[in-house]
Amino acid sequence: MSNLFEGSTFCIHTFGCQMNKHDSERVAGMLEGLGALPVDTIEEADIVAFMTCCVREAADTRLYGQVASMKNISVREGSPFNKRLIAVGGCIGQRDGAKLTDELPHLDVVFGTHNLGSLPALLTAAAQEGGHRVEVLDAADDFSSSLPTDRENAWAAWLPITVGCNNFCTYCIVPYVRGREKSRTLEDIAQEAQGYVDAGVKEITLLGQNVNSYGRDLYGEPRFAEVLDAVDATGIERLRFATSHPKDLTDEVIARFGTLRSLMPALHLPVQSGSNRILKAMNRRYTREHYLDLVKKLRAVVPDIALSTDIIVGFPGETEEDFLETYRLVEEVGYNQVFTFIYSKREGTPAASMEDDTPREVIQERFDRLVDLVQRKAFEANQDEQGSVVPVLVEGTSKRDTSILAGRSPKNQTVHAPLPAGVEIDELIGTTVSVKVDEARTWYLSGTVVNEDA
Ligand code: SAH
Ligand code: SF4
Ligand code: F3S
Repeated sequence: MSNLFEGSTFCIHTFGCQMNKHDSERVAGMLEGLGALPVDTIEEADIVAFMTCCVREAADTRLYGQVASMKNISVREGSPFNKRLIAVGGCIGQRDGAKLTDELPHLDVVFGTHNLGSLPALLTAAAQEGGHRVEVLDAADDFSSSLPTDRENAWAAWLPITVGCNNFCTYCIVPYVRGREKSRTLEDIAQEAQGYVDAGVKEITLLGQNVNSYGRDLYGEPRFAEVLDAVDATGIERLRFATSHPKDLTDEVIARFGTLRSLMPALHLPVQSGSNRILKAMNRRYTREHYLDLVKKLRAVVPDIALSTDIIVGFPGETEEDFLETYRLVEEVGYNQVFTFIYSKREGTPAASMEDDTPREVIQERFDRLVDLVQRKAFEANQDEQGSVVPVLVEGTSKRDTSILAGRSPKNQTVHAPLPAGVEIDELIGTTVSVKVDEARTWYLSGTVVNEDA
């Protein structure tokens, strides 16, 4: 099969969450394994793969438009194929299957979230025989982690510990497109983590829709704290994880923030709403009080832990009083970062049939009010860093100014500092430098490198 792809080029457009980004690394790894070369633009690519997201409506519509606009795109000169191959994978592929090729007849391949590994065979068949190739499975027989990977960054790795979700929050489509929660074995995870450490990786981010329930399907009880222990024991420099569901965050896991050397002092803990009435309608299965209690416990272990969250504004039936409960919760917690979303109706979810009579302008006004608060609180939260020296794992340069290095603090804040004289950025990427923070802004800290070898 490999001869067919030899000398061909591919590009992947990825939308959505880290799980998708990681899946894209697997797709890239497979295609490169077949002899195809990665390129940056659709124009240069013989194979264009879209790794799609349907968590909100906007991304959904955009994907259909984007593929539609590729209708008359001709074959690249030098391409081994007689047409430009277009493939759609990820969550829209999983949800829509053959509906995609019905609406977009020039689309060649559709694959789902459970069968990344089928892509080469589907592309081969489409290239050799023409016509559509659609393959979507209801569940996975294997963890896609057994596939090769071309990681985005040499110094960082995403490590999925579970796939799927069993929570069925009433607004959310993820359980329908990613299937039921499945955990990998502890041994498998530890082995992959060790492999990364041996290869020089500095930061591992464990992935799952709800990492806290890791192991329930395999061992009958959640064993996430043990995963943290096992990965810390590999000697990794920085360990992070996402996402954590507040209903399953245990005292055991909270305690690890105080005891594990590599576990970074930052936690993404999506609250979604501060109103108990709305939380119940969302099927989140915790209360505002429980959530605030978790925050208290976390701060008892790491007083300056950086907290981030997700919030949905305008869930069906949300009143001004419900919204104010959310607003006050954000004020009280003082997050370093909040990802705010306007509720988007997803067909097939329970919330889609809930009565929703709040006018669009009212929701938008609430959203804007919340964003203002979020920015004010993020600015305040960052002020603690002013004057301090933070170890920064260097990721590259600032997008706007290549003489400025950019990286992350342990709390996951973006840090900028001028590149020291005579130092090339390539020498620093993936290393940790000490930066003295001169100014703390809303979304980043800026400072000066005080030591290139922190
Ligand atoms: N499993 C993770 C992430 C799920 S998707 C978790 O439970 O936190 C990421 C975020 O998208 C969610 O946290 C939620 O805030 C948002 N989201 C999900 N469905 C949505 C919808 N229908 N409308 C608006 N935002 C949504
Ligand atoms: Fe969606 Fe809820 Fe599962 Fe997160 S926990 S993926 S919000 S159903
Ligand atoms: Fe989107 Fe699928 Fe992730 S719907 S948020 S890419 S799990």
